[in-house]
This record gives sequence, structure tokens and C-alpha cells, in this order.
Amino acid sequence: MTMTVPVPTFADQAVRGKALYTEHCQVCHQPDGRGAQGVAPPLQNTVGRYVDQPSGREYLVSVPLTGMTGMVEMEGMRFLGRMPSFAGLADEDIAAVLRYVLAQFNGISDADWLTSQWVAQMRSRGGSPGLTYALRAKLAKGLR
Ligand code: HEC
Repeated sequence: MTMTVPVPTFADQAVRGKALYTEHCQVCHQPDGRGAQGVAPPLQNTVGRYVDQPSGREYLVSVPLTGMTGMVEMEGMRFLGRMPSFAGLADEDIAAVLRYVLAQFNGISDADWLTSQWVAQMRSRGGSPGLTYALRAKLAKGLR
């Protein structure tokens, strides 16, 4: 007997991304992605700027993979926070939740590079909350 594994359609992925965000992210980043003072920075109209360069894409996927610690300053607010690691999520789920954040909060719905294969590749590189934070600091200089 052969088994066919259903290939998820884009609509399925979007639904999954929303469900994952609701379950894992919105408690801190809020349902509308605007963040909350002293809790978590906004993801709305902010993280989209990272996707234009390869190092920015690597940073974006590193955040949920490793978590991040260190002071983040955004829109006049300071976050001395601790973003937990979501390394326990499957590669396709990391991809789906980031696609949701980009599409829903940053108007970027063509993130074709954001595949589970690419997440797996980034995961295999390892990393740490501190290294991810250093990546962000480096990017912030270039984006200013
Ligand atoms: C416990 C609260 C909390 C949860 C839950 C959480 N985050 Fe975060 N997130 C933070 C904090 C705090 C920061 C800033 C970290 C720092 O200060 O170094 C952050 C930073 C980020 C950043 C980087 C923003 C930037 O401008 O560089 C992204 C992307 C992100 N989170 C995505 C997610 C996603 C996706 C999820 C769900 C899978 C999630 N977060 C769940 C607290 C949280």
C-alpha cells in the first residue's frame, strides 16, 4: 500500500502560521504585532526591513531558533527583554510563523526564500541568544 502525504497549500500554511502565532507569540508581541511596552518590541512595520539582505534573513530566522537577549531600542521604547527559543518547533512551523509575521504585519507576502529546508540549514549552524543579538546590532548599524 502506498501512502500519499498531502502537500500543504499556501492557504493551509497561512492558517497554520496564524495558529502558531496565536499560540506562541501573541502573549508578548500582541495579536496585532504592535508589541507591548516593557514586554516585547513591535513586529509590525519593523522586521520587514530585514528581508532585503541575506544577513537580515538569517537574523530573522535566528531569533525564534535561538531566542535573543540584550537591550533592544525601537520607536523610542527600550526592551531589556528575553525572547525565548522556539527551537522545539518544526522547521516548517518556524517558516510558517515567520511568513505570517511578514505577510500580516509587514505587507510582505512573497517570501519564497522562507522554506523549511532553509530553516533546517540555518538550524544546523547552531547559534545562541547572544550571537543572534550580535547579528542584530550589526544589522542595526547598516540599516541606520
Ligand atoms: C516571552 C515573550 C516573548 C514571546 C512569547 C515571543 N517573543 Fe519575540 N521577542 C521578545 C523580546 C523581549 C524580544 C526582544 C529581545 C531582546 O531584547 O533582545 C523579541 C524579539 C523578537 C524579534 C526581533 C525583532 C527585531 O526588531 O529585531 C522577532 C522577529 C520575534 N521576537 C519574533 C517572535 C515570534 C515569531 C514569536 C513566536 C514564535 C515570538 N517572538 C515570541 C519576546 C517574546
